[in-house]
Amino acid sequence: MKVWLDGKLVNKEEAKISVWDHGLLYGDGLFEGMRIYSGKVFKLEEHMERLYQGAHVLNLEIPYSREALAAIVLETVAANDRRDGYIRLLVTRGAGTLGIDPAKCPKASVVVIVDGIQLYPEELYTAGIPIVTAATRRLPGDVFDPRVKSLNYLTNIMAKMEATRAGCPEAVMLTREGYIAECTADNIFIYSKGVLKTPAAHLGILEGITRATIMELAADAGIPVEEGVYNRTDLYLAEEVFLTGSGAEIIPVTEIDGRKIGEGTAGPVSGKLRKLFQDLIK
Ligand SMILES: Cc1ncc(COP(=O)(O)O)c(C=O)c1O
Repeated sequence: MKVWLDGKLVNKEEAKISVWDHGLLYGDGLFEGMRIYSGKVFKLEEHMERLYQGAHVLNLEIPYSREALAAIVLETVAANDRRDGYIRLLVTRGAGTLGIDPAKCPKASVVVIVDGIQLYPEELYTAGIPIVTAATRRLPGDVFDPRVKSLNYLTNIMAKMEATRAGCPEAVMLTREGYIAECTADNIFIYSKGVLKTPAAHLGILEGITRATIMELAADAGIPVEEGVYNRTDLYLAEEVFLTGSGAEIIPVTEIDGRKIGEGTAGPVSGKLRKLFQDLIK
């Protein structure tokens, strides 16, 4: 396996970063998770845009132009000879001194890892998964906006541990006010009374690229799509619920906090959108 690290492709064993890197010391950095389907990077432009927007918010200078970094991603994919897989792109503030001041870090570090991924066993994509509501709240956008896909995932990790303790693969996180935000690494959709609904971006969620893709596919298929404010009752009373993400793709949810969703089986709308998504990635 070849990893891109600050200007060169190195073997996995040599892919090491400094203990002075502020990405490690303070979580000061950004990441993207992308998919490779049939030899192509899915929505590469969109991932680049989100990364550079995050960098702008953090005042973090990426030492490559967007085009150059996209070419580095493609070069790493080619070096690993992967037609299907997963890419983890990391930009950290770089090595500095002890102390949080990013001005003491002269150059950001860039890492590209290309590997395989199977987030859930295949059978769960047809059977669906149970999830729980986490007590850990999603970071409020006025504190730190989750639109910035930063290396600070501790609230998500806290919620993920709650899910695991409850015997579930995922947990849904609420906003500080108690509205539905998103899951620990996925966006959430509700289908009810002919309308596909998803929490609005301003509530404090990551604006997922899979989320945008599904919204587009649904609209093209004539399914009305609404971004709004929803609570747990909206989830419990939904006909269908499903999650989306680059890692998870589209996975149906059949139980939330011990309540059956719809018929308690994967529903036709998530099935249809999953099929449209699979056609797209082919
Ligand atoms: C918190 C969170 N929400 C949603 C998503 C899904 O985003 P995307 O579809 O861009 O992968 C992710 C992906 O990593 C995530 O970390």
